[in-house]
Amino acid sequence: MKAIELTAPRLDAFRAATVATPEPQRGEVLVRLRAASLNFVDVAVASGNYPGPSFPLIPVADGAGEIAALGEGVTKYAVGDRVIAHAKPRWIGGRPRPYEMTQMRGLTLPGSLAEYVALPANAVVPTPAHLSFEAAATLPIAATTAWNATRAADVGPGSVVVLLGTGGVSILTLQLAKAAGATVIITSSSDEKLERARALGADHLINYRTTPDWDGKVLKLTDDLGADLIVETGGSATFARAVNATAPGGTLFTIGFVTGAEAMVDLLPIIIKALRVVGNNTGSVSDLRDAARAIGAAGIEPVIDKVYSQDRAAEAYAHMAAGGRHFGKLAFRLEW
Ligand SMILES: NC(=O)c1ccc[n+]([C@@H]2O[C@H](COP(=O)([O-])OP(=O)(O)OC[C@H]3O[C@@H](n4cnc5c(N)ncnc54)[C@H](OP(=O)(O)O)[C@@H]3O)[C@@H](O)[C@H]2O)c1
Repeated sequence: MKAIELTAPRLDAFRAATVATPEPQRGEVLVRLRAASLNFVDVAVASGNYPGPSFPLIPVADGAGEIAALGEGVTKYAVGDRVIAHAKPRWIGGRPRPYEMTQMRGLTLPGSLAEYVALPANAVVPTPAHLSFEAAATLPIAATTAWNATRAADVGPGSVVVLLGTGGVSILTLQLAKAAGATVIITSSSDEKLERARALGADHLINYRTTPDWDGKVLKLTDDLGADLIVETGGSATFARAVNATAPGGTLFTIGFVTGAEAMVDLLPIIIKALRVVGNNTGSVSDLRDAARAIGAAGIEPVIDKVYSQDRAAEAYAHMAAGGRHFGKLAFRLEW
């Protein structure tokens, strides 16, 4: 089959390759990949900033397509079914064991810039009927994480949710939180992106460049209470302010390192406000299934800023690595 390989931890080290087509084993399905989507973690892998890869590898964790063949014993899918391939196909549900959590497509397992991938049948989930292949391919990492964030804080009508920036996770959380009836406050470096977020239902907009004390603004908007949920995608530059902007008993969903992974933390506000600082590592196949079901039921359309062909991988990676240039997701349409 045809594939794109990443040959070294460099953002331009992509090459077209022909590799053996995988054979679905007992209990597996062969998925003909039709689309993929890019996540910050893919860029981290290609920049040498993520542990675990050995090169060459088939990059990009997230993908979607249709079943091309069934391994022995698989009855739950038929050839032609549209499915989403989870990024962590060994983690089916429940609390993960370390091995299940660290095995990731595009890192230690073949990724999505290929014609086919063979996966356990219980590691793929049905695609919501209204989604294109490209939209479906945005779900594994970003929607699973966004879903877990809203579940961790029991988000519902009256909840206040704060989202940092307008990347893939923030925008999918915005859409899920609005579908759940929450009030959403979102920050961005760009007024134009904030207006796009407003069009998706965001209630309050803060430009973190012109309002660097965005945490103060969150407190002002919430009668000094703070947010019930902050999805902490920023890392070093945002963590302390996120602690300040979280309401007593609120959830600081700690997932990202866009500005770095180290932070000096004053423990007292966490203790005094009894904050729930919740880590997350994407989630299981079961979490993805629930997220996809919710997105199907709510008719949510993931926002894709730009679609690339697979032979423009270096351009797509550079676009995301530049930071702040996209809104929502970047995707690949796979046509070989
Ligand atoms: N642990 C997990 O489960 C998990 C899962 C998914 C993602 N993540 C992590 O979460 C982070 C976001 O992922 P993503 O895929 O959504 O990335 P992304 O699409 O690249 O979005 C990153 C966004 O961060 C915003 N940003 C940059 N500097 C900021 C700052 N100082 N304050 C506030 N926002 C800032 C920018 O928004 P503007 O352009 O609007 O300014 C940018 O678009 C990454 O670190 C990723 O690795 C973790």
